[in-house]
Amino acid sequence: MNGVAGIRQVTVVGAGIIGASWTALFLAKGFSVAITDTNPEAESKVKRFVEEAWPALTVLGLAPGAAPDKLRFDLDLASACDGADFVQENATERELLKVALFAEIDSAVRRDVLIASSSSALTVTTMQRECRHPERVVLGHPFNPPHLMPLVEIVGGEQTSAGALDRAETFYAALGKTPVRLAKEVYGHIANRLQGAVFREAVSLLDKGVASLADIDRAMTDGPGLRWALMGPFLTYHLAGGEGGMGAFMKQFALTQTELWKDLGEPVIDERLQRVVTEAMEHESGGRSISDFSADRDRRILALLTSRDASERATQAQP
Ligand SMILES: NC(=O)c1ccc[n+]([C@@H]2O[C@H](COP(=O)([O-])OP(=O)(O)OC[C@H]3O[C@@H](n4cnc5c(N)ncnc54)[C@H](O)[C@@H]3O)[C@@H](O)[C@H]2O)c1
Repeated sequence: MNGVAGIRQVTVVGAGIIGASWTALFLAKGFSVAITDTNPEAESKVKRFVEEAWPALTVLGLAPGAAPDKLRFDLDLASACDGADFVQENATERELLKVALFAEIDSAVRRDVLIASSSSALTVTTMQRECRHPERVVLGHPFNPPHLMPLVEIVGGEQTSAGALDRAETFYAALGKTPVRLAKEVYGHIANRLQGAVFREAVSLLDKGVASLADIDRAMTDGPGLRWALMGPFLTYHLAGGEGGMGAFMKQFALTQTELWKDLGEPVIDERLQRVVTEAMEHESGGRSISDFSADRDRRILALLTSRDASERATQAQP
């Protein structure tokens, strides 16, 4: 794929977990990628990541001309930005670092180049505040790992132009991502807030001794989680209302939901609770390594994505 929304070359800033995964995706879509990181060890890590991700990306479909070696690592930010048509920033999540970094990227690229941040919680309004051309700074928040997970959340800051947001949406959609536009900035965007709400209750249930960590996880994966991969919380409850849909659900369950919401936990993650959760997780994982879990997760995400695509095609083909 070349020349999507005028974009041919992508620069990735920050080559950690997220930067490496975005890099694999951009390469699979046929772009040339320059990647920069302050840590020289990042070069070999990102190359290894791309190599390991390539079989899954091949299953999902490579663009003509896509090649893992269209990758250039550069310790120097300005030269990594040379020739960039799009920048995806994924540096360490620290406000002052990002504010300075955005000013640096801003002065290193042409004024029409979109600069997208993967930040999980910082606002674009903050990150763009020292840029000379802040109108092209957007949020492009992925879900880990971005080379597999379709979601990317897009929102602008106070100084972002509507045109920049449209271009970002077009670009990500052309990559096969699922862009979701936020109408306003909010801490943690959408998906992390939803996850946060569930995680808060999971931690609270564990801390109250309601069930083991494994059983709480299983109650999610074999319960709501399975449906939520196909339809969100609203559509799920629209169906729970029977023929009357959401209106009937609201009438029938408004009281129960109110009682439930009042009863949800509000745990404080102090040192004691951190220890409780960490020890329970260590007990459950039984010494299995993170890389083993991650490889297993990615294999299953790939299987789910391909079967979901196939079932969507089958539904569309029905008369
Ligand atoms: N980890 C996740 O699940 C996840 C998911 C979505 C979004 N994010 C966001 O992505 C961003 C990166 O997170 P991560 O988990 O990949 O972190 P990470 O710690 O794995 O990687 C950050 C990288 O940035 C590099 N770095 C620091 N300062 C830099 C600079 N000035 N210039 C270039 N590189 C620099 C570090 O050396 C490191 O390699 C954060 O903003 C985070 O909020 C993370």
